Amino acid sequence: MDALELLLNRHSCPRLAEPAPAGEQLELIFKAGLRAPDHATLTPWEFIVFAGEQRYRLGDILAAAAEARGEVPEAVDKARNAPLRAPLVIAVAARVKPHDKVPELEQHLSAGCALMAMQMAAQAQGFNGIWRSGWFIFDRGVHRQLGLGEQDQLVGFLYLGTPLMEVRKLPERDPAQFVRYFDR
Ligand SMILES: Cc1cc2nc3c(=O)[nH]c(=O)nc-3n(C[C@H](O)[C@H](O)[C@H](O)COP(=O)(O)O)c2cc1C
Repeated sequence: MDALELLLNRHSCPRLAEPAPAGEQLELIFKAGLRAPDHATLTPWEFIVFAGEQRYRLGDILAAAAEARGEVPEAVDKARNAPLRAPLVIAVAARVKPHDKVPELEQHLSAGCALMAMQMAAQAQGFNGIWRSGWFIFDRGVHRQLGLGEQDQLVGFLYLGTPLMEVRKLPERDPAQFVRYFDR
């Protein structure tokens, strides 16, 4: 797929089924993530993979966190089932490294770029996915259960699989509404 065509047609898919990317396809997805812009070459990323049965472990972690913050039983169940919405879930974390010229925000942004690059690499290979977040990504209990440190930040969960629905036509956006040539 042509690079510009991919950029202009990137889209998410919330309904995903088997097969998920695996083997060389998944390796290419990780390699695309590792091309994220990276100030001072800190490589502040970790991709934590939940495939197959491991998604239930992630569901247990999210459900326990929901219980700990006093969510109602329906919300606890929703949290438990959340990772089952795709055959493969990748938690993307900024493993933040102290640096006098690269603040936390830049490292979070870099991890976000990695997540988007991975979604695009999935789409380029005929798969797709969606970037999801929710309160989970800010929950320190979830961070600890995933093996993250106090300084780290989850930037999202990338749900991946084979699209179950037709690609919807993206609304055309007019650059003129978002672009301003500075003239003062
Ligand atoms: C940081 C971030 C967090 C997001 N979290 C969610 C989420 O929790 N649930 C959701 O349905 N979409 C979430 N989205 C939006 C989807 O990833 C997606 O971009 C949106 O559905 C629009 O679809 P499109 O990517 O095809 O334009 C999030 C996007 C970003 C950038």
